[in-house]
Amino acid sequence: MIPGITILPGDCLASMRTLPDCSVDAVVTDPPYGQTSLPWDRFVYGWMAEIGRILKPTGSVWVFGTLRMFTQHWREFEGWTLAQDIVWEKHNGSSLRSDRFRRVHEQAAQFYRGEWGPVYKGMVVTMDAAKRTLSRRTGARHQHLHGAETGTSYASEDGGPRIQRSVIYARSEHGRAVHPTQKPTAIIEPLILNACPPGGVVLDPFAGSGTTGGCAVRLGRRAILCEGNQDYLSVMERRISGIVSETSDLFARAAE
Ligand SMILES: C[S@@+](CC[C@H](N)C(=O)[O-])C[C@H]1O[C@@H](n2cnc3c(N)ncnc32)[C@H](O)[C@@H]1O
Repeated sequence: MIPGITILPGDCLASMRTLPDCSVDAVVTDPPYGQTSLPWDRFVYGWMAEIGRILKPTGSVWVFGTLRMFTQHWREFEGWTLAQDIVWEKHNGSSLRSDRFRRVHEQAAQFYRGEWGPVYKGMVVTMDAAKRTLSRRTGARHQHLHGAETGTSYASEDGGPRIQRSVIYARSEHGRAVHPTQKPTAIIEPLILNACPPGGVVLDPFAGSGTTGGCAVRLGRRAILCEGNQDYLSVMERRISGIVSETSDLFARAAE
């Protein structure tokens, strides 16, 4: 048992029905797209509707998915507004087919309902622009960003943190993952900071190895994790403990 983490084993639709209305601050999840031969990769219809009941009016949902998944299953997202999207640029590609580009990225999209105004918007900043900008000191200096959650007292040497770019580079977990589609913490943490207030609750209905949960606790949030596969439930606590015991990617990037 890890403080701040609630694990709900079994089908996520059944698990989510046990959660009270408006009890979750944000959702950060990587659902099955229904595009591979992995046995659990079956699109789950109706999960966004259930989220609509559980999510606070200030909440939003970050969902990983391919453009093919979003267009094929657009009805799942009916009634939600697309706020923005990010691209995860990986160090390697996954396609061996010569009739397509070598795919070295994944995408995530943020959805909300109703008005954008009340939706929680945490500013996400990065310190890793320092190296690139140091060499051109005569260029425009960036304004220091007040109120941003950097998780650090470091400041980049030419003026301060920058707003996180929408294309985020992070090494994939290939070779060290306990789950076949395990996300790196470096790509999950910015989404949690963006959507969930400090101390709030992040829900991941398709938790896999528990990356979202580990990142949430490491960033001072709590998490509710649903997972239907016993193989992944059995490695989840260890993976989460490992993430929590490591320094946040935000600290690591700042210290580089
Ligand atoms: C893409 S993976 C998530 C990987 C995760 N982001 C990570 O970093 O480890 C999706 C997960 O959803 C789980 N899943 C699929 N359908 C489910 C359902 N109906 N209820 C609960 N979990 C489900 C699968 O077993 C799989 O582990």
